[in-house]
Amino acid sequence: MSIDGIDDIEGLKRAGAAVARARDTMAAHVAPGVSTRELDAIGRDVLQRYGARSAPQLAYDFPGTTCISINDELAHGIPSDRTLRDGDLVNIDVSAELDGYWADSGASFPVGEVKPRLRHLLFTTRAALHDAIGEVRAGVPIRNIGRAVERRAKRAGFRVVRELCGHGVGRNIHEPPSVPNTFDRRNSDVLHEGLVITIEPFLTTGATSIFEADDGWTLRTPDGSIGAQFEHTLIVTRGEPIVVTR
Ligand code: CO
Ligand code: CO
Repeated sequence: MSIDGIDDIEGLKRAGAAVARARDTMAAHVAPGVSTRELDAIGRDVLQRYGARSAPQLAYDFPGTTCISINDELAHGIPSDRTLRDGDLVNIDVSAELDGYWADSGASFPVGEVKPRLRHLLFTTRAALHDAIGEVRAGVPIRNIGRAVERRAKRAGFRVVRELCGHGVGRNIHEPPSVPNTFDRRNSDVLHEGLVITIEPFLTTGATSIFEADDGWTLRTPDGSIGAQFEHTLIVTRGEPIVVTR
């Protein structure tokens, strides 16, 4: 969506606050032995308190409130009795609708003690998101976001998953435009003032593609390489963007 005044900004901030609180409360409970279903229930309770509704449930009939993906699973993992184990990376992606406004945020976390290479993957993916947010201003080409993400990944020796992109958001969970994490010279889309988008780099220790698992939802790397994702929803302005899921 493109915002049309202060009411839209306030509405998006309320939806963003619910999503951010659910994400952070779930993150505080990440520990070896905790099941992804337990984490999901924590997120569900927070969203309920805000009067917000799960976006993947509303829009896609997803079998969970939030998406929880472990190690070589990059996105759309279904909450289950599977428990987190020491050394895992877990991604928590929360998106929700509140009073007609939709917001989307995700983050990856270490479970217990993880290998230095995976800690570096977390650091680099978070840094890629912040580099990309630093590019966002009205009038800037969307391809600058992917350029920033690729640059950060390359310097650290990690790969970018091409098929997974940020997206427009605000009046639904997935709206145009697509916000690629890779640079494409031919992409002539430009960020305009008031546009609401997510930025969500997916970096891995090897793979640049994903496939859908037999459950019909989970997206994982074909070679077992490990991935991380960080995501915020933001509003484009003539200056610094307004990040609503901080
Ligand atoms: Co998301
Ligand atoms: Co998203």
